[in-house]
Amino acid sequence: TKVSAQVSSAFTDSLTGIQFQRFFGARTNFGFGIVLPPATALTNTNSFIGQLTFPLGTGGAGWGGFSLTGNMEGPLLMAAWSDGAGDVVSSFRQAFNEDDNPPEVTGSFTLKPIPTGTVVNNTFLAYTFLCEGCLDASLGLDGASATQDMGWALASRAVGNKASSAGVLGFHNSGFGDFRMNVQAARNARFDEWAALAGTAVSASTGATPFDTTNAGGSDDEGDDGDDSD
Ligand code: HEM
Ligand SMILES: *[C@@H]1O[C@H](CO)[C@@H](O)[C@H](O)[C@H]1NC(C)=O
Repeated sequence: TKVSAQVSSAFTDSLTGIQFQRFFGARTNFGFGIVLPPATALTNTNSFIGQLTFPLGTGGAGWGGFSLTGNMEGPLLMAAWSDGAGDVVSSFRQAFNEDDNPPEVTGSFTLKPIPTGTVVNNTFLAYTFLCEGCLDASLGLDGASATQDMGWALASRAVGNKASSAGVLGFHNSGFGDFRMNVQAARNARFDEWAALAGTAVSASTGATPFDTTNAGGSDDEGDDGDDSD
C-alpha cells in the first residue's frame, strides 16, 4: 500500500446506466468499478456489483482482474478473459505466493454476469456482474470501512487453456497495483434494480478448491508496483 494510492471516482456505465465508484488507470485503460447496496438494505447485503473494463492483447489475449484488498496473496481475487469465441470466462482465485498461477477457488461467493454490461471482441473486454456473497471480512472486503484498499492487475499475454475457468494466468505484465476504493460512495439506493439485471451463476471447474478463509488478510508486502497512478 502506497500513501499515494489513487482514489476511486464516480463513473456511470453507458451500457447499463449503473453508477459505479471506479478505479481507472489512464496509462493502461484498465477500469474496475463497484456498487454496494445502501447501508439500510435488507436484501443483497453481502453482495456487490462489479465491472471490469480493459484492453486485450494481440488477438484478444490477456486477462484482467481485481483483489478485494490491496494485496495479491490471501484475499479473494477474480480474473476475466476472452474465450476467443465471443464469451467472457471468469474465475475466482486465491494466491499463496506471487510466483504461481493462483488456483481457482470456490466458497460462499457466486458470480452472476449482467449480459447487457458484457461485451468482448478482439481488442477490448467489458464484464459486468453481480458478485453474490462477496462482501465478507473473511474474503478481504466487508464494506464496513468508508474507504478501503483494493487491487488490480492486467496482462496482455495469452491465458493457457482459455476456454476453462481453470485457465492458466501468467504474470500481470501490463500493470498492477492498489488503489483506494470509496466504499461509502459506492453504496447506491438503486442496487437491487441493477442486481436484477444479473443472469445465471457461473460455475467453477471441477478442480477448484475451497477458499482458505484463514488466509485472506495475507501478507502486506509492498511489492514493486509497476503500477498506474495516473
Ligand atoms: C487474479 C489474478 C491476480 C491479481 C488480481 C493480482 C494482483 C496483484 C496485486 C494487487 C499485487 C500487488 C501486491 C502488493 O502490492 O502487495 C500483485 C503482485 C504480484 N503479483 Fe499478482 N495478481 C494476480 C495474478 C498473478 C499471477 C497469475 C502472477 C504470476 C503468475 C502474479 C504475480 C505477482 C507478483 C510477482 C507480484 C509482486 C511483484 C513485485 O513485488 O514486484 N500475479 N498481484
Ligand atoms: C471492441 O469493443 C469496444 C467496446 O465496445 C469498441 O470500442 C471497439 O470499437 C470494438 N472493436 C472492434 C474491432 O469491434
